[in-house]
Amino acid sequence: MSVTKLKRNFFQRLLGRPATNKPVSADCWSLQDGTVTVDLSKAQELDKAGTAVCLDGKGLESSLLVVHGDDGRFHALKNVCTHGKRQLDPVPGTGTVQCCSIGTSTFSYDGKLIEGPAKGPLSVYRVEEGDGTLKISL
Ligand code: FES
Repeated sequence: MSVTKLKRNFFQRLLGRPATNKPVSADCWSLQDGTVTVDLSKAQELDKAGTAVCLDGKGLESSLLVVHGDDGRFHALKNVCTHGKRQLDPVPGTGTVQCCSIGTSTFSYDGKLIEGPAKGPLSVYRVEEGDGTLKISL
């Protein structure tokens, strides 16, 4: 399987700057009793397949990458590369997420390592979609 690299410049890779941002509407998500709830009507960044948001803070133990996949489904992954702990981005049109660092470790939506120096799979979380919300079980 050939892996597509997300277009990033050398310095972005060197510094580990992900392309994926936090949602503009900070109130589009909440964490309660181990479940993250995302209000899709407020998370416009997730409107199209191939997009993602990075969720941090509000009591999360680690950063969470929420992806609107190329398969039309939503996926949630621990946003910490198992190589050097850098963050990840979706690679639109490939069904993968990729580390933002120079190593570009690449994973499938189910966390399986496809290519790169990462030491193992990413943790993934169950996502239920309904009534315009996502429920992510941590
Ligand atoms: S930190 Fe992800 S490949 Fe190195």
